[in-house]
Amino acid sequence: MSRLTLIGTGPGDPELLTLKAVRLIAAAEVVAFPQKPGEASLAFEIAGGHVGPGAQLMPTDIPMNVDPEPARLAYRRLADTLVEKVQTGRDVVYLCEGDPLFYGSAIPLLEAVGGRVATSIVPGITSLTAASAEARLPLALRNAILKVLPAPLPDEVLEAELGRGAAALIKLGRHFDRVRALLARLGRAESAVVVEHATQARQRITPLADFAADERPYFSTLLVPARGAHS
Ligand SMILES: C[S@@+](CC[C@H](N)C(=O)[O-])C[C@H]1O[C@@H](n2cnc3c(N)ncnc32)[C@H](O)[C@@H]1O
Repeated sequence: MSRLTLIGTGPGDPELLTLKAVRLIAAAEVVAFPQKPGEASLAFEIAGGHVGPGAQLMPTDIPMNVDPEPARLAYRRLADTLVEKVQTGRDVVYLCEGDPLFYGSAIPLLEAVGGRVATSIVPGITSLTAASAEARLPLALRNAILKVLPAPLPDEVLEAELGRGAAALIKLGRHFDRVRALLARLGRAESAVVVEHATQARQRITPLADFAADERPYFSTLLVPARGAHS
């Protein structure tokens, strides 16, 4: 039976694709992937080499505005198109950077598809585990708690959630300065490390204390080790 498969392509290094992802991408008749308008798709850059010769490519612009409505509309349109392709007998894959269901663009697509066609999900290596491996900073041991905190959350929430435990801050971009100031105020900045573009050729790993004051990278994860012994 034809189906839509949402495939995690991992954080960047093409060797971090799973064998299952490679097999399904090579067999797919339609290969869809999201991109920011005017920018190349990272998911396609990672996995495009495995696409079969006759496959139809479907790059789809997804607007990245603070207002989520245009993106929701784009996912709804894409879902309708992909459903139609599956219903007419084609196997469709949707490529998603990292893991599809870890803050991934596959989530709104899956919601928009609903139960209209059969769907499967192939997990991918997340940017979180890739950043930890590249920085050689363990995420959590024994009964330790690890929190993933999106940087757009307000300061009060970030401060309350941070506590003394380990955290990974994502989606930094224009929130970078605010988060840096918050960590400094809480005495958590000295041990924090910025991992940019983990596993990609442009990867950079920098202690937060040494990070240039005018940089605001979006594709970065800020790893904040636990304060004191938590294992
Ligand atoms: C919308 S989330 C997507 C996460 C993705 N689905 C995953 O499994 O890693 C985007 C955020 O993930 C983090 N990120 C994604 N790729 C990264 C990479 N290669 N290196 C460091 N952080 C990355 C950044 O914090 C970025 O703002």
